[in-house]
Amino acid sequence: MNDLGVAIFGAGRAGNAHARAISQTAGARLIAVFDADAERAAAFAEDHGCQAFTSSDEVLRRDDVALVMVALPNFLHERATVDAASAGKHIFLEKPMADTVEECDRMLDAVGRAGVQLLVAHSQRYFGSTIRAREIVQGGELGQPVFATDTWYKNFGLEGRLPWFLDRATGGGMWLMNGAHMLDRTCWVLDSEVASIRAWIGSPFHQLSADDANLAFVQLRNGLHASIVHAGYRSRGVEKCEVEITCTDGMLIFDSYSNRLAIERDGAYSPIEVQRVDPFTEELKNLVGAINGTETLRVSAAWGRHIVEVLLAAEESSRTGSEVTIKSNVRAGARALGG
Ligand SMILES: NC(=O)c1ccc[n+]([C@@H]2O[C@H](COP(=O)([O-])OP(=O)(O)OC[C@H]3O[C@@H](n4cnc5c(N)ncnc54)[C@H](O)[C@@H]3O)[C@@H](O)[C@H]2O)c1
Repeated sequence: MNDLGVAIFGAGRAGNAHARAISQTAGARLIAVFDADAERAAAFAEDHGCQAFTSSDEVLRRDDVALVMVALPNFLHERATVDAASAGKHIFLEKPMADTVEECDRMLDAVGRAGVQLLVAHSQRYFGSTIRAREIVQGGELGQPVFATDTWYKNFGLEGRLPWFLDRATGGGMWLMNGAHMLDRTCWVLDSEVASIRAWIGSPFHQLSADDANLAFVQLRNGLHASIVHAGYRSRGVEKCEVEITCTDGMLIFDSYSNRLAIERDGAYSPIEVQRVDPFTEELKNLVGAINGTETLRVSAAWGRHIVEVLLAAEESSRTGSEVTIKSNVRAGARALGG
């Protein structure tokens, strides 16, 4: 079977990670990169051995490109996905799926009409520690899960951020970037969708229109609860990224990035060894398998839409001071209002 030709849209942090993943994935070959910034595109092409383009249309006209990996700023996700689907290309799309649920709906329609595969890349559930944490929690050895606390503190990294990330109007900020990850991993390990959310989202460290800190109280549809706490501090603070699950007969803690997983024994955490895997390679392999008909996607596009709805509901809650109810119900097959 011929290798699947891949084009990456966006020569930034995520785009570079995906180029490395392609080089590790049998059956996939990087052909092209598209970026509006010609210098960034050229440097990327040089680093990863592909052709550089500043026009997405030129890339989409190529017959040797079968898969487009969209790693562009969030406000460009809809257009890139609809254009790629209309050109008959399969799509790997960075999270969050889009900036609004209406955009998600138009993307789902375009993908459905074209009959192509779309993976919304919620990468957290491709980490070894997240997968094992879910197995343990759902396996029942710690009793029934009660609640989760998901905490992520890191330096915002202002100097390395491009302008789109500093402006909420272009989908910038930590809530959309990392809130998407935190909601996804916590919901997945607790095996539920979100029923409602109450949140505070602000920018106390940098005073930007995009946020750099947030705190959310999440009620899940299965009756469990979670807190999601994130700080993208400016200069001083500790690095922390961990999810702690409290169960009726014990506790568990995991950190996807450091591959740490531990369960409570005799009042202290005892580590469990987990094989380290590269989540970017794992998710690409999953999509290639789905395209070849040998695997099903681990993340549905309807889930990507659900997360967008929850992210926006949290922002509404922060503005109004009220809890916001989530309408989409992925398991019931309803992606829109009450449907
Ligand atoms: N899954 C993950 O772990 C992960 C990690 C980082 C980023 N992301 C996601 O990837 C996406 C990109 O984030 P990033 O941090 O890589 O961004 P980035 O700022 O590092 O890179 C964005 C790239 O898009 C290009 N660009 C900007 N405007 C453009 C336009 N109009 N047309 C074409 N190119 C344009 C920029 O020149 C830049 O090269 C976001 O959706 C983000 O949420 C996911």
